[in-house]
Amino acid sequence: MRKLPKKQSIFLPDEWSVIEEEFEPKNNFMLETIFTVANGYLGLRGNLDEDFPDKSQSFKATYINGFYEEYDITYPEGGYGFAKRGEAMVNVADVKTFEITIEDEKFNLFSGKIDKYIRKLDMRSGTLVRKIIWESNSGKKIYIVFERLACFKRQHLGAINIKIKPLNFSGRIKIVSKIDGNSSNLLETEDVRVGSGIEKFPFETIKAYCDELNGFLMQKTKKSRLSYGCMVDHVLSFDGFFCKSFADKEKNLVIFEIEFDAKKDMEYSLTKYFSYFTQRDVEENLIEERCAGEILEAKKIGVENLLKEQREFLESFWENADVVVKGDPEIQQAIRFSLFSLLQSTGRNGISNIAAKGLTGEGYGGHYFWDSEIYVMPFFIYTYPEIARMLLIHRYNLLDAARQRAKELHHRGALYPWRTIAGKECSAYFPAGTAQYHINADIVYAIKKYFEATDDFNFIKNYGAEIVFESARFYADLGHFSEEKDGKFCIFCVTGPDEYTALVDNNAYTNYMVQMNLEFAARLYNLLKETDKEAFERLCNKLKLSEQEIDLWQKIADNMYLPYNAKLKIIPQDDSFIYKKRLDLSKIPEDQFPLLLHWHYLDIYRYQVCKQPDVLLLIYLLREKFTYEDLKNNYEYYEPITTHDSSLSPAIFSILAVELNLLEKAYEYFRYTARMDLDDLNDNTKDGIHAACMGGAWQAIVFGFGGMRTNKDRLSFAPKLPEDIEYLSFKIKYMGNVLKVEITKSIASYTLLEGENIQLSHYSSNFELKRGQTKEFILAN
Ligand code: BGC
Repeated sequence: MRKLPKKQSIFLPDEWSVIEEEFEPKNNFMLETIFTVANGYLGLRGNLDEDFPDKSQSFKATYINGFYEEYDITYPEGGYGFAKRGEAMVNVADVKTFEITIEDEKFNLFSGKIDKYIRKLDMRSGTLVRKIIWESNSGKKIYIVFERLACFKRQHLGAINIKIKPLNFSGRIKIVSKIDGNSSNLLETEDVRVGSGIEKFPFETIKAYCDELNGFLMQKTKKSRLSYGCMVDHVLSFDGFFCKSFADKEKNLVIFEIEFDAKKDMEYSLTKYFSYFTQRDVEENLIEERCAGEILEAKKIGVENLLKEQREFLESFWENADVVVKGDPEIQQAIRFSLFSLLQSTGRNGISNIAAKGLTGEGYGGHYFWDSEIYVMPFFIYTYPEIARMLLIHRYNLLDAARQRAKELHHRGALYPWRTIAGKECSAYFPAGTAQYHINADIVYAIKKYFEATDDFNFIKNYGAEIVFESARFYADLGHFSEEKDGKFCIFCVTGPDEYTALVDNNAYTNYMVQMNLEFAARLYNLLKETDKEAFERLCNKLKLSEQEIDLWQKIADNMYLPYNAKLKIIPQDDSFIYKKRLDLSKIPEDQFPLLLHWHYLDIYRYQVCKQPDVLLLIYLLREKFTYEDLKNNYEYYEPITTHDSSLSPAIFSILAVELNLLEKAYEYFRYTARMDLDDLNDNTKDGIHAACMGGAWQAIVFGFGGMRTNKDRLSFAPKLPEDIEYLSFKIKYMGNVLKVEITKSIASYTLLEGENIQLSHYSSNFELKRGQTKEFILAN
C-alpha cells in the first residue's frame, strides 16, 4: 500500500478566504495558481501586480477558455490515424502588470521594506486583494491596495483597482499600465503532463492603438488563425494627472504612462477595465466593437457596482452550492476553495468546457478530458444544472468532429477525442489516449445522470439523444460476438481509466459502461418514439436509425461479456490483468512516484499496478449492479496495488471506504483530495489546479459521507461522519426540488426547501417530504 503524502499548510484555515500573510517568494510559483481569479471564460493567473523578477519561479498568464493555437504533432515513427494536429490553450495579452514609481524608486517587494502585507482570495466577493505598506530605500512610505476581479456576470470583462496613499511624503507618482501582447507559452517539458507543442509566441499582432487612457490590441494565432482582441480603459478618481500613451504593433504593446503629484495622506485610485473577445465568440470584424461595448458599459456602471454584482452572483452560487463542514477548518476552507475553483474554471457558453487545470496554468495543454463528465459534472448536475447543460451542449457541438474521428478510424458513429479543445484528438500517445474508448460512455453517463436529475427532455431531444445514439453505434461497431467467449460481445484492444494498464481486451469498466450506453440508447429511442413523434422522426432520418439497429444494441447489451473471476471473487480489470505479477508498492522508494515520470511504460504495463481506480470506479458509478460483497472483495484486491499517481484516484477510494465502514481511511483519502492544491500535495500545483480532484472532493462529501445514491426512483442517503467531522450540510437540486441535508454524529435531517414533494430514503426507510418539511433520523453509532 502506498502512504499518502501529507504537508503542513502554509495558509491559515480561514473559512471563506485563502490568505497569504507574509510575502514569501519561494511560494510564488504555486501561489500564482492558487490566487487565480477567473470566471469560466477569462482566467487571470495570480501573478504579482508589479511582476516577479525571477522568471524561473513565475509564469505570467492570462487565458481564455476554448481559445487555442494549433501545432503539428510530429512522430519520428508515425502511424495511420495518429493525432496529427494538436490544440493548446494560449496565453493571451497581459493587462495585470504595472510599474509603479515613487519619485525615482520603483515599487518592488525585493527592495525597500515591507511594513504590512496581506494577499487574500475572497471566495464571497470573488476578488483577489493585496494590501501593502511599503517603504522605499529612501524612506518614502506608501499604502497600496490592488484589487482584481474577473466578472462572473460579464464573462468578457475584468477590472483591476489600484489605490495608493503616500503616508509620509508628497511627491510624484508614475504608473505604467500596459496591454502586453508578448505573452509566452510553456513549451514541452521533461514532465509529460506540462507544456505543449505550440510556439512560445504564437501570434501576429494585427492591430494596436491607443487614445489617451483607452487602448486596443488585436492578435491572430499563426496556425489556428483565430483572432482575439483586448481593450482596456482607465478611470482615475482625481484630476490633474498627466497621461502619455503609445501603441507599437511591431512590439505587440500598448503602453500608458500616468503621472501625478500626490499629496501626503491623500488616496489616489485608478481603475483599469479590460475586455477580451475572440473569433470563437463573435465574427472577427466585431471583436473590437464588442470589447468597446463592454468597456463603455463597465465605465458607466463603475467598479463599485461591478464588485457588488460579483458579490451578488456569488451569494446566489453559495446559496445553492455551499458545503458546510464543522470540526476541521482546513477542510471547510478546502472544500469551498474546490467549489469556487470549479466555478472559476467552467465554461458556460457551449464552446468551452473545463480544462484539467482550469484557467490557472498550462498543464495538460488546457485540454478537456473525461474529467469533466465523471469528476466535475456531478457537482453541477446537483447544484447548478444550467451549467451542466451547457457543458453537455459543448460536447454536442463537437459531435461532428467526433463523427469524423470515428470515420478516420474506420468505425461507424462517433468517437470523442480523449483530450481536446475544439474537437480534434490531441493525444499524441494513443495507448493512453485514443485507446481510452470509454470517453464516449463517460459522456453518455453524464447525459443520463443529468436527465435523471432534471427531466430535461428538451435537452435530450435536441442534443443528448443524438450523442447517445452515435456513441452506441460506434460501440456496436467496435466489438464483436466472440465464439470463444460463449458468443458474448467482447471489446478488444482498449485502455480503461487506469493508465498503468493499456491496450487490453475486455476492460471491465469499458464493457459495463458500453452496456449502459446501449441500454440507455434503446430506452431513449423508445421514449422519443412514444412521446415526441416529430423529434423521433427527425433523429431517425438524420441518423438513419432503424428498429433493427436498436434491436442489435439491445442484443449486444444483453450479451455483453462482463468479466468475473469466481476463484478470486473479483472483477478482473481485463482479460490479462490477474495473471500479471502484483507490484508491492511498499517496496518502491517514495521518490519513484509518480511512476510515469520514472519508469518506462512497458515496465509499468507488465505488472498488476494501477495509477487510479478502474474496476472500483466502475463499481462506484454503476453501484446498483454490484453487491456489497463485490465492493468489499474488489476494494481489498485493488487498493494495495493502486499508486494514486493520478489525482483522480483518492476521492473514489474515499467514497467506497465510507460504505465499507473504513471511516478513518475514507477521511485520509478525502483529506488528500480536498487539500491537494492548497497544500501542493503532488508538488505540481504551480502547473495549475487539479479540477477533477476538486470535483472528486465534492463527490466524496455527498456520495461518500452523505452516502447519496441516485440510482433508484428516489434519492437515497446513508450518511456516516468520520471522527474529525462534527457537522456536515449540503444542498441537492433534484427534479426541480432543492433538498437540504444536515448530518451530525447522532442525527441526519432532510428539509425540502423548494419543490412540491420528493421521495427519499434514509438507509432502508423510505419517506416523502413536502415543501418546508423536515424529517430527522437518529444515526446509530
Ligand atoms: C489521468 C487521466 C486524466 C488526466 C487529466 C491523468 O493523469 O490518468 O485519467 O484524465 O490525468 O486529468
